[in-house]
Amino acid sequence: MALEKPFISGHFSPVSDEITGHDLKIRGTLPPELNGRYFRNGHNPKPGITPSHWFRGAGMLHGIRLTDGRAEWYRNRWVRTPFLEGVPFTGTELEVSAAATNIIFHGGRYLALQEANLPYEVSAELDTLGVHDFGGKLTSAMTAHPKEDPETGELHFFSYSPFPPHLSYYVADASGDIVRSEIVEGAGPSLMHDFAITREHVVFIDSPVVFDHAEQSGIPYRWHDEVPLRIGVLPRAGGWTTWYEVPDQAALLHVANAYTDARGRIVLEAPRLDRSSWESSWKWWVGAPGYGTSPATGSTLHRWIIDPATGTVTTEAVNDLVTEFPSINDAHTGADYRYSYAIAFPGSGLSGYHTAKFDTRTGRQRLFAHGEGRMPGEAVFAPAEGGTAEDDGYLLTIVSDLEADASELLVLDAGDLSEVAAVELPRRVPAGIHGHWIPDAHQSA
Ligand SMILES: [Fe+2]
Repeated sequence: MALEKPFISGHFSPVSDEITGHDLKIRGTLPPELNGRYFRNGHNPKPGITPSHWFRGAGMLHGIRLTDGRAEWYRNRWVRTPFLEGVPFTGTELEVSAAATNIIFHGGRYLALQEANLPYEVSAELDTLGVHDFGGKLTSAMTAHPKEDPETGELHFFSYSPFPPHLSYYVADASGDIVRSEIVEGAGPSLMHDFAITREHVVFIDSPVVFDHAEQSGIPYRWHDEVPLRIGVLPRAGGWTTWYEVPDQAALLHVANAYTDARGRIVLEAPRLDRSSWESSWKWWVGAPGYGTSPATGSTLHRWIIDPATGTVTTEAVNDLVTEFPSINDAHTGADYRYSYAIAFPGSGLSGYHTAKFDTRTGRQRLFAHGEGRMPGEAVFAPAEGGTAEDDGYLLTIVSDLEADASELLVLDAGDLSEVAAVELPRRVPAGIHGHWIPDAHQSA
């Protein structure tokens, strides 16, 4: 019997159609201040298609519209790209995108992102409008993890490639116009999924996972023991990128946050993967024999402190739970902060999936248990109206419930992780990747 690919089974089983539901049932009381849209992206290959890699499944968006304590609608839509219609991904045609990794709102546009391609613009009702190249100013692929500076509204992002120049850096102003673009010297051909900004610096991650033709899964990258982890620091004011070699070899997939401290040191916090963690996770992503029970294996929250004065990098563990999909209150992007949130995966003493909150100063954790057969997604922070503390707000996540064959948009109190409300969705929503809460206030800004 053929091995069932984990990324199209169980919580990840794709849905076969697009639907719209109105006036959804709510359990508890939905905070009336949550006026906006929760949009989430993920891989959902068409029926009958088994991709060679999780990340080669076509993108489907799921959206829930909240207004005045009501859940006005739910809808799910594929991102209509040539890839969805069967044009194979080659890496050379930038518009042939699965467009499945993330969805952001910037400069008045909703953009579905996948890192090997140009963004796809969709409407506020998730209909595909077309490829977006920033008026011709973006001529290379765009990361799925751009960072919006909460003070300026600028969008910082990068483009990476297995071929030189390996790395380019871009800034779009608050209106979505690219105002800075430059080649970042010194980067290698590594798989660069995420990066960070601080108020003063841009932080790039050059990991041991590098371009390798031998990898036949459709994502040609593999771990190489001879390649160190390097962190590149570029002053936002301009200048050169300085690369710091990290003595402790590791890979980072996602960043929680970074900031420049009072001594001018750059502090970066993220789940850390060693070779075994990376390769176990990858096995799940490609469905190779011996894959584990979940898409993240062994990654734990760490802190890297880069000191430009001494040229050194130190690494320390923050917490030992296996977590991934880190998130924060985005108003603290690039600035000193205290709390990060994540999905805690089964293992390391936990039974079943949890949503975790970390106090990064003490390393202490708080957990919300989702229960048997239930899997949450990334916890997206939505600020409370008039909130003053960093964790005054809510965490939004879509939970897949296999036994009930159903899903809900769960709203947790970001302070104590208690359940506030849940919106019952008209269908089971496959476990997915990244999304955002887009408040109406932001949309009309
Ligand atoms: Fe990601």
